[in-house]
Amino acid sequence: MTENIHLVAPDGAIAHAIVYSDALELVAAAAGLVVSLANEAISARGKFSIALSGGNTPKPVYERLASTKLDWTRVHVYFGDERCVPPNDPLSNYRMAKEALLDKIAIPPANVRRMRGEDPPDEAAQRYEQTLREGLGEDGRLDLVLLGLGDDGHTASLFPGLAAVTETQRWVFASYVEVTGKWRMSLTPPVINAARTVAFLVEGAGKADVLRRVLLGPRQPVVLPAQSVHPTERPALWLLDVAAAARLDRPR
Ligand code: 6PG
Repeated sequence: MTENIHLVAPDGAIAHAIVYSDALELVAAAAGLVVSLANEAISARGKFSIALSGGNTPKPVYERLASTKLDWTRVHVYFGDERCVPPNDPLSNYRMAKEALLDKIAIPPANVRRMRGEDPPDEAAQRYEQTLREGLGEDGRLDLVLLGLGDDGHTASLFPGLAAVTETQRWVFASYVEVTGKWRMSLTPPVINAARTVAFLVEGAGKADVLRRVLLGPRQPVVLPAQSVHPTERPALWLLDVAAAARLDRPR
């Protein structure tokens, strides 16, 4: 069972939510979305550039993609954020993606551009912005940015109160994140919002409250950084399971 919901917040912000009956259906749909956008980009522009999300939700999607037929030589993998740790650290988003997907597919190593979490954060952030400019060109347009949603309203490593949330020039920002006790790097809203498609993957009852606040509550992106995501090309897609969508008003 899939339910499409067109959501309009009090200030007019629009979101397109697709609600799946359970996490398994959500995973299958998310993998399907990546493949269809990839094939569309490859036939239109000869390549597909995706920024992967960290966290737990996307891992089964990456595992599913590993067994999917796709011309990986045309796929370019970037990261939406990274913890400032070495690439083999259990906290590393790169390590998670490597184990779930990258080690299982025939993608040229040069096509995978990780954020160097082992380097000094500001230096690594500046270097990654250069990597994005070299890979995407000056318009910095990714084809797809996958994002998660933290229960405090963060997305990527845009956490409440961080200067990165309201950054308008830089594409990558390094921040010390009090709540995690770690430095992190994150794509900023300008480069996220320049993407052709942005898709949030949110599942579980634990996200129902924050999802309602983000999608239907007052605009306060510094408090709820996921609200800083409003892509220019089209509204973000929200792929949800029933549990996460439980507090979203359904149009009568
Ligand atoms: C990270 C992610 C982060 C994540 C959310 C949701 O580096 O952890 O980029 O933004 O998407 O915290 O995480 P879950 O999917 O584990 O709930």
